[in-house]
Amino acid sequence: MKKLHIAAAVAASLAVSAHAQDTQIDRKVTELMQQMTVTEKVGQLHQLSGRQFTGPTSSNYADKLADIRAGKVGSMLNVTGVADTREIQALALKSRLKIPLLFSLDVIHGYKTVFPVPLGEAASWDMEAIELSAHIAAKEAAAAGIHWTFAPMVDVARDPRWGRVMEGAGEDTYLGSQIAAARVHGFQGKQLGATDSVMATAKHFAAYGAAIAGRDYNAVDMSEQQLHEVYLPPFKAAADAGAATFMNSFNTLNGIPATGNAMLQRDILKGAWNYKGFVVSDWASVREMVPHGFAADLSDAAVKAINAGSDMDMEGYAYSQHLEAAVKAGKVKMEVLDDAVRRVLTKKFELGLFDEPYRYSDAAREKAVLGDASHRAAALDVAQKSIVLLKNENKLLPLSREAKRIAVIGPLADSQRDLEGGWVVQGERAKVVSIVEGIRSHAGKAKISYAQACAPGCASSAGFAEAVATASRSDIIVLAVGETWDMSGEAKSRTDITLPGQQEALFNALKATGKPIVVVMLAGRPLVFNTIADKADAIVYAWFPGSEGGNAVANVLFGDYNPSGKLPITFPRSVGQIPLSYAQYNTGRPVLADKNITYRSAYIDSPNTPRYAFGHGLSYTDFKYSGLALSSAVMAGTQKVTLSFDLANSGKVEGTEIVQLYLRDMVSSVVRPLKELKGFQKVRLKPGETRRVSFTIDRDTLSFFNSQLKWGAEAGEFKLMVGSASDDIRLENTLQLTQ
Ligand code: BGC
Repeated sequence: MKKLHIAAAVAASLAVSAHAQDTQIDRKVTELMQQMTVTEKVGQLHQLSGRQFTGPTSSNYADKLADIRAGKVGSMLNVTGVADTREIQALALKSRLKIPLLFSLDVIHGYKTVFPVPLGEAASWDMEAIELSAHIAAKEAAAAGIHWTFAPMVDVARDPRWGRVMEGAGEDTYLGSQIAAARVHGFQGKQLGATDSVMATAKHFAAYGAAIAGRDYNAVDMSEQQLHEVYLPPFKAAADAGAATFMNSFNTLNGIPATGNAMLQRDILKGAWNYKGFVVSDWASVREMVPHGFAADLSDAAVKAINAGSDMDMEGYAYSQHLEAAVKAGKVKMEVLDDAVRRVLTKKFELGLFDEPYRYSDAAREKAVLGDASHRAAALDVAQKSIVLLKNENKLLPLSREAKRIAVIGPLADSQRDLEGGWVVQGERAKVVSIVEGIRSHAGKAKISYAQACAPGCASSAGFAEAVATASRSDIIVLAVGETWDMSGEAKSRTDITLPGQQEALFNALKATGKPIVVVMLAGRPLVFNTIADKADAIVYAWFPGSEGGNAVANVLFGDYNPSGKLPITFPRSVGQIPLSYAQYNTGRPVLADKNITYRSAYIDSPNTPRYAFGHGLSYTDFKYSGLALSSAVMAGTQKVTLSFDLANSGKVEGTEIVQLYLRDMVSSVVRPLKELKGFQKVRLKPGETRRVSFTIDRDTLSFFNSQLKWGAEAGEFKLMVGSASDDIRLENTLQLTQ
């Protein structure tokens, strides 16, 4: 009890001091703003790129430096490292009011230490590991002068043609919300302003992941129901976790560009959610409202964007060129400008930049932090946790080290660049552990031979004969194939998501040797690979696993790490099935079995089922589920019900299972999905060990957005399902909700 009192007192005093700090900062911002001209205010909302490594255009660098010196720039992206950030900050400090710049960068999955791409990390379902990964990325970036990362991307993405599925947490709103919060906590640490943390950005607000036909930047057309229920919750989770900033998006949403969308930015974000951070546009998205056909010209775009709640203009030059005139002409109220400027300045104060403008740019810290060897260990840990074992016929894996001859083949087997994936800022390529290098160093007595067969992309089959000969002299083949790093990410939409080039032909040629084949697949998205799915003996999906990728893959192959990853996104059988999610709605004519398709909601040339379902992932051990019980079969009002069951490791090795809780609201005023993920736990068990696992179900678990877009639960029957994957439900029960 006493402890509790002390804890409560400490929490209360922290809250009081945080509030005091808020009001103190408020006062300082007010004092500063009283001295600012309209030109200087507009300057705070103007963000420019340094020597450009993102985005299509950039104006003269010398002009940019002059504008910084004149106090006409609030933030720079793409300037990094202590030396450069110091040099540029010094210019800002020569301006009349000496307002420091914010330095921002796309630190998406690591700064120097490269972690798996975000979709890969999502497959770990491991909030601690994900938070740590973001924290290390933040620590490294913050030691190199960066104040602010443009991450996490929290867009729900259900279309693997869209290259940016790689940057998010996959298709599910519940898992995505948990990961959004974990990443924000990781980047921002305990408190803004701590020099081992950076400001996070929840992006891209909103619904960017639902681009029609998976084509990047394309229009989005969706019901309000979908928006509120599926696409917005991860943003809300990021806001609740304290994300310092939001970034809006390139797309239109039901005809209105997100950047000029007052419903999103004013009504929902800054209104209903009472969000106090600021919104940065996406790269030139203010300007792009002109080609959209939403703004007549750049001046009109500036007016529409700021009035709709876009606070900072990234490389759009709309605010810098037109906002002052628009304010003077009364098209933008001074309160609107002031509100945006206040939001930006507040963050600069919270980061402590007015007192110490160079506090993130410390050469000694940069050297120490970027050389910290423990970061590689964390990268290895999360890379292992991200790997998904899709298939393991006859328990071919783990490989034995006893005097085996292993042929490592494939265009990606000795690649370092491809293991990093996209959005790499300062990664040390030469230190990336390739797959063959990882296998060699973990192989013990096993003899390793290597043949590339074809270069990444696999355009030519000239090297196949040598690869087949190498394979023929071995006992087992490990084939590393997949997409190259530059095939997913921004502007990397594909209509064909099968293995690029001649990789399937390579697989077939190797298969003809009759040797068992383990396929290690690298990609930033779900690929379609039906032949391999049918014929390979084992498939290990490694995403783009980062600096320690080769070691992670080798640990899994040899069983030093028992895989536990689960797919955070559905793997379709063909592009024709897309978009495909486990959380689909029933039709009036559901398919009862794949054969029963007459006048049913089905295809005549394909099953409806995916190749690999959301939540799928195997282990080297087996898990048994039994004894499902509910503390009560009926739930009323604000009561809580506990669902529990026994999970046993019935195999021979220690392993981790990610148990998943799904539910279906059987009859409701708005049709509900067949399954919705509502909980998960990672449970580590020794062989023979059994543990009782429990989930608490409350009203919130049973709630959804009704036709009035109000969050709430409706009385009636709910089916509760527990399982190892969305298509592998092991236990079920029903719960009755009374009002
Ligand atoms: C991307 C953003 C990114 C920005 C800055 C844009 O093209 O859509 O996600 O943060 O560039 O690099």
